[in-house]
Formats: sequence, C-alpha cells, structure tokens
Amino acid sequence: MERVSSWLNEKSMYIGLLAAWIAMCGSLYFSEVRGYVPCTLCWYQRILMYPLAGVIAVGLLRRDWHLPYYVLPISLIGLGVSTYHYLLQKTDIFAGATVCQQGVSCVTQYINWFGFVTIPFLALTAFLIISLMSIIALLNGEPVGEDEEGDPLPRPWLPVAGQIIAVLAIFAALFIAGRQDPLVAAARANSAFPAVTTAGPQMLVTGEVVGDATLERGQRIFLETCAACHGVDGSGVVNLGNQLAGSEFFASHSDQEILAVIREGRDLGDPENTTGLVMPPSGGRP
Ligand code: HEC
Repeated sequence: MERVSSWLNEKSMYIGLLAAWIAMCGSLYFSEVRGYVPCTLCWYQRILMYPLAGVIAVGLLRRDWHLPYYVLPISLIGLGVSTYHYLLQKTDIFAGATVCQQGVSCVTQYINWFGFVTIPFLALTAFLIISLMSIIALLNGEPVGEDEEGDPLPRPWLPVAGQIIAVLAIFAALFIAGRQDPLVAAARANSAFPAVTTAGPQMLVTGEVVGDATLERGQRIFLETCAACHGVDGSGVVNLGNQLAGSEFFASHSDQEILAVIREGRDLGDPENTTGLVMPPSGGRP
C-alpha cells in the first residue's frame, strides 16, 4: 500500500497528463472520424479539457510545483459541467433546462456502452482523474526540482514526450483505420447535403391529428428527440439531419423497417448512409 501511495505521489501529474491526452484525442476521434456532432455542453467540456493537455505537459517539463494550482480550477469546473451533462442525459432532475436550444441536443447519446457509458461520462471520468491526481500532487507538496548539490534537475522530456507520442500513435492508427474504412469513406463522399424540397406527401403531424393521444405523444417525442436534427417540421437541418418530410425512405419501407432504422440509427459505416452524417440509435435517447 505504501509503495502504491508513494508511486502515486510521484506519478500523479503524469497520470493526469495521460487522462487529458486520451480525453482530447478520444473526443476528436468521436467527432472527426465517427462523425458525432458535439453539442454545446460538449464544447464547454472541450474548452476546459484541451488546454489541460498542454498546461500539464509544460508544468511537468518545468517541474513546476504550482502545476496542480493551475490545473485544479479548470478540471473541477470541467467535472461540474460533465456531471451536469451526464445527469441531463440520464435523469429528469434538470428537465426543462434551456441549454442546447440550437444544434444537436445535449441529451443525445451517440454512445451508450453497457447502458451507462456515454461521452459526457467519459469526460467526467477524465476530469475526475485529473482532479484527484492534482489533489494528490498538492498534498504531496513541493516536488524536488534540484539535486543534492542544488543544481536544477534536467527537464523530464522523455516521460512527458513519450507519453504524448504513445497516445498520439494509438489515436493516429484509429484515425487512419476509421478514415480508410471504405463505408465511412463512401459516406463522407456523399456529404453533399440533399436539397430541401417540400414536394411529396408530408409526414408532418399537423393540427388536425394532434387530438389523437398517440400522435400527440409521438409529436412530443419528435420535438424533444428528433427535431434538433430533422427540423421541427421534418424539413431537415443542414449538417445535422436530412429531410424526413416527403422522404423516399418512408415511401419505400415498411413501418417495421423504419422503426428498425430509428432504433439502430445509422453510423457513417452503414452502407445505407446517404448523407455522411450520423443518425444516433433512437435519436440518441435510448
Ligand atoms: C443527431 C442528429 C439526429 C437525431 C437526434 C435524429 N436523427 Fe434521424 N437521422 C439523422 C441523420 C444524419 C440521418 C441520415 C443518415 C443517412 O445518411 O442515412 C437520419 C436518418 C433518419 C431516418 C432515415 C431517413 C432516410 O431518408 O434515410 C429516419 C427515419 C430518422 N432519421 C428518424 C429519426 C427519428 C424518428 C428521430 C428521433 C427519435 C431521429 N431521426 C433523430 C440524424 C439524426
């Protein structure tokens, strides 16, 4: 136990460095390779996480014992934002919150591994690790920056740069593999957004039919879950979701098939993908 704690004392900010770089590269992988559009709250978390990747690296290189003082305020705010975001996704306690009125909804869950690991959950974990490691570094006090003769110790280039290069190499491989996936490449080549037309049968739930309780419920779900990407009237939103009103897809598929697409969503790697954009499973609301 003592060995573990002295190892942690010594390495804590290196663990923080690793967490920040994995979080940064991971979020770029999700948006740039997988095509998951970041929501407003995701951007706030990125704004807080990305500088940490640089600040921790420089602080470690300079053996600056103030480093945790710079890192903690940022990582604690990040922890707050991702906790809020996660609760927004998974609970009703902030129902009616007015964040993310524009663009992709903040409750959209592009991933939902094991039923609880969403992207804000991953960010929360990274901010938590960085905060804990900073607190350990703080409690640990002043790291030794000088040798016995009082000469400054050399900068730890190798461990800092080595860690960063290792993370970059792993994610570079993931980027290249993801980009070269022929299905993803084909989806991206298609990314010219289809023109919005209003011809054809309208899928709108119009004034006449909202009296029906089922339709009303459907309309509510559509407005809460789908409208951010497909438009309030189903006419599509550029770079988020295609036009559903009058879509060929509805005309040529059975209700069962349509439901299956809505449930499964459509990744970039899906051969059916026509827009080069991602439709999250169940619109991101399992
Ligand atoms: C984050 C944005 C987003 C959300 C939220 C979203 N969609 Fe989609 N949806 C898309 C994109 C992008 C496509 C097109 C994918 C492709 O290229 O095939 C799509 C495709 C579809 C399609 C296939 C239509 C066609 O013409 O191929 C249906 C049906 C659909 N969405 C229904 C829904 C429903 C119902 C909801 C709400 C429960 C929803 N979507 C929520 C982005 C979204």
